[in-house]
Amino acid sequence: MSNTQIKRPVTANSKLNAWVQEMIQLCEPAAVHWCDGSAAENQALCDLMVKHGTFIKLNEKLRPGSYLARSHPSDVARVEDRTFICSKTKQEAGPTNHWADPVEMKKTMLERFKGCMQGRTLYVIPFAMGPLDSPICKIGIEITDSPYVVVNMRIMTRMGKIVLDKLGADGKFIPCMHSVGAPLAPGQKDVSWPCEPDPKKKYIVHFPDDPSIWSYGSGYGGNALLGKKCLALRIASVVAKREGWLAEHMLILGLTSPAGKKYYVAAAFPSACGKTNLAMMQPTLPGWKVSTLGDDIAWIRIGKDGHLYAMNPETGFFGVAPGTSKQSNPHALTSCAKNTIFTNVVLTPDNDVWWEDMGVPAPAHGIDWEGNAWTPTSGKKGAHANSRFTAPASQCPVIDPDWQNPEGVPLAAIMFGGRRPSTIPLVNEAFDWEHGVFMGSACGSETTAAALGAAGVLRRDPFAMLPFCGYSMDDYFAHWLSFAKKTDRAKLPKVYFVNWFRKSAEGKFLWPGYGDNSRVLKWICERVEGTGKAHKTAIGNLPTPDALDLKGLNLTAENVKELLAVDVAGWRNEITDVAANYAKFGDHLPKALNQQLDSLRQRLG
Ligand code: GTP
Ligand code: SPV
Ligand code: MN
Repeated sequence: MSNTQIKRPVTANSKLNAWVQEMIQLCEPAAVHWCDGSAAENQALCDLMVKHGTFIKLNEKLRPGSYLARSHPSDVARVEDRTFICSKTKQEAGPTNHWADPVEMKKTMLERFKGCMQGRTLYVIPFAMGPLDSPICKIGIEITDSPYVVVNMRIMTRMGKIVLDKLGADGKFIPCMHSVGAPLAPGQKDVSWPCEPDPKKKYIVHFPDDPSIWSYGSGYGGNALLGKKCLALRIASVVAKREGWLAEHMLILGLTSPAGKKYYVAAAFPSACGKTNLAMMQPTLPGWKVSTLGDDIAWIRIGKDGHLYAMNPETGFFGVAPGTSKQSNPHALTSCAKNTIFTNVVLTPDNDVWWEDMGVPAPAHGIDWEGNAWTPTSGKKGAHANSRFTAPASQCPVIDPDWQNPEGVPLAAIMFGGRRPSTIPLVNEAFDWEHGVFMGSACGSETTAAALGAAGVLRRDPFAMLPFCGYSMDDYFAHWLSFAKKTDRAKLPKVYFVNWFRKSAEGKFLWPGYGDNSRVLKWICERVEGTGKAHKTAIGNLPTPDALDLKGLNLTAENVKELLAVDVAGWRNEITDVAANYAKFGDHLPKALNQQLDSLRQRLG
């Protein structure tokens, strides 16, 4: 695919053709390519990237069809500081989002994008979020100058000709503009990972009223694969509010009991807090089976029978590599055994990949994520903490037969969680829907490497949606509360708060996590059935000491007690912190949530 080859548009959609023409005028690319999504096109792009040094082809025997990319050292994670919600008013974006005036920001974007693709190819990527036959499937068109984005989007979304066919002559689409922000002057040599290195010149911009998305300066993950966080969460959350459904940062799993009964569960944990791991977990409890429907995003709506149905709009996993091992997540390892793009991991001497805590010995020497010679004793991590694999969901050995069901699957339970070294128990059941919404709104977690900035700092991350909610979070809370009126309460999923990350005074995890989280899931299923044992406490319904199946686990009685205790002093601090976060919303906070906080305060005494 040479840079001078120009493909003719392959759609009769006049709005789409007009918009693409307008963007070509604006960005001044050297060539234009409409993506058809074929395997041949994908191979040609991979070959092109190998030629230009963006991709390293991995050992075909060890890792068939797979490639390694190393990003620019400044371009390794989402940039929350540079993420904007440009609703008409600041109030609509709310106190937790960065707002910018839409008219001003459009001007800024037009300036940034003027000539930004000089010397590069402009790719037109038609993509769909959700099965094409789903009632809430959304079509986007991403324009990008990054072939890395094209091949990642082909894994993460339904992409290419099938989407243009579905769009037809007058179908609607969400325009998504993306540029790495690195035009090439005539004769200028390209670099392996072009981007705008100055963080202040990166922009991840959402215009919810259009709706449209403009992303400039980064080639990385959630900044550049615009179907994911930008469309399927920030823009979709706004559309969902209007249309009466929910767009959530949640995994979806199926859990089958030894008796053969199946339960579907969705869980919202902040970035790098265990969604991918839980979604495809191998239960340590005999006879229990987990199947995967999604690992990052769930679109949830009320089905005809009044139950909440969840659907995964994506088709791939953009998973955290470090920590993924045969021990912790064997199904993720199988998922990325072939046809996978790795970003910012170690290259081994036999042209395979390695990362910290992969569960196999480190190579004696390798090339680290920055492209430098590396040894296990060099005192530096070889893979970036936010290094990732992009793998097709269809390669997951426990993918659920219903993962592409256009209607989604009915939820028995919803879980919230976060990284909390203290205070928050292993599992806690909400008294009712309102208490569950309160739990979601009070969610806090230590920050991780998934976003630029300090890691390990406790921050409030309501519903794990702080970086992803496209409108004011007070309205978002109200929207969640409204589901108790939209359907029969008895049909709503039960709500839980979990914490796999409690630590001892010595800083060791108190709970083994991973496959042993099945023990918590089992209790949740028993609660759904009405058989699980619990006692009512000030903070929620906690398992009685004998309620969790801990057979075969080497946990001391003290640890179990600590994991399931109500730490009154800790919870008083928690209340103060949640109240301070609520104060940001002033009068806009739904009264029901302040009432929940007051009741909790009273119950704690
Ligand atoms: P995003 O893709 O950023 O949204 O992350 P995620 O929520 O899917 O997180 P993921 O499952 O990739 O896990 C992130 C990190 O947490 C990895 O390093 C895991 O090894 C670790 N982790 C996941 N589950 C557990 C658990 O149960 N216990 C402990 N201690 N660590 C876990
Ligand atoms: C997250 O940060 O929650 C991710 C990775 O899932 S990214 O796609 O980069 O947002
Ligand atoms: Mn995520």
